[in-house]
Amino acid sequence: MSYDQAEKLRNQLSSDRIAKTIAVCSGKGGVGKSNFTLNFSIKLAQENQRVLLFDLDVGMGNIDLLLGMQTDNSIADVLNNRISMHEAIVKSSYGMDYIPGGSGLLEFVELDKHKKAIFYQGLEKLLREYDYVLFDMGAGMTETALFFILAADECFVITTPEPTSITDAYGMVKHILTNQTDMPIYTILNRSRNNAILDNFHAVIDSFLDGEAQGLGSIPEDGNVMKAVMHQKPYTMLYPKTKASKAIDFILKTYVNRADRTGRKSGSFIERIKHFMKG
Ligand SMILES: Nc1ncnc2c1ncn2[C@@H]1O[C@H](COP(=O)(O)OP(=O)(O)OP(=O)(O)O)[C@@H](O)[C@H]1O
Ligand SMILES: [Mg+2]
Repeated sequence: MSYDQAEKLRNQLSSDRIAKTIAVCSGKGGVGKSNFTLNFSIKLAQENQRVLLFDLDVGMGNIDLLLGMQTDNSIADVLNNRISMHEAIVKSSYGMDYIPGGSGLLEFVELDKHKKAIFYQGLEKLLREYDYVLFDMGAGMTETALFFILAADECFVITTPEPTSITDAYGMVKHILTNQTDMPIYTILNRSRNNAILDNFHAVIDSFLDGEAQGLGSIPEDGNVMKAVMHQKPYTMLYPKTKASKAIDFILKTYVNRADRTGRKSGSFIERIKHFMKG
């Protein structure tokens, strides 16, 4: 095969490739979703993956704050046709890109057909440009947010060891598996190294729910996480050797090397989200 033919084939292959969508969610708020998603995304990007983090927090843009960046554009400007979806992308200095959060998606399900079409077209294009698109689900669980979770290719559920957090995480897993039995679910225990808690959580899921979840590991309580947040820098970059950063490395390794890679049985993210949004 000539160089040109090989190049052509590569281009064809890459244009057929579609990003894997991962929704990072929790039951209870404030458990560490944004910090996990950001640091996991950076580490994934350092493995030569094209990563886009989509901040779906409808309140304050969390990712902006964690990166110490100020951005003018938001998803609301995309829907108003002021900028393209592409123009809403911000390049971070850590190898991953992101789309800042904002109130634009709050009432997504109520948008008119025209605005929904703009969003789908933009998203479809984006999915061809990245290997992974991670959705950082915000604290407020709107109907739209729940649709994004159910439409994703995979869900990561984060919990802390507190009983209230575990109970709410179980509620989230139950909600996902009840509505989408083929959803691959991965769990992460944050702020604790007590793996027995994660094991118990999985035992309960196995006994009471149809479907399963795989544990990816735990992230210990680490004072450097808060310090990094205060410095508005990702902890894996500011403190690469701290306990929490090592845990992210381990979780990424576990994820990349996982044996069970059964994906969703049918449809694409775009098809599923259109279905939920009713067109
Ligand atoms: N492993 C950890 N060790 C110590 N503190 C942590 C850890 N993970 C998160 N935190 C603390 O928890 C705070 C909240 O984290 P984060 O903003 O990532 O949560 P969230 O789940 O995204 O919240 P929300 O539901 O409001 O979006 C951080 O600012 C940090 O102080
Ligand atoms: Mg958050």
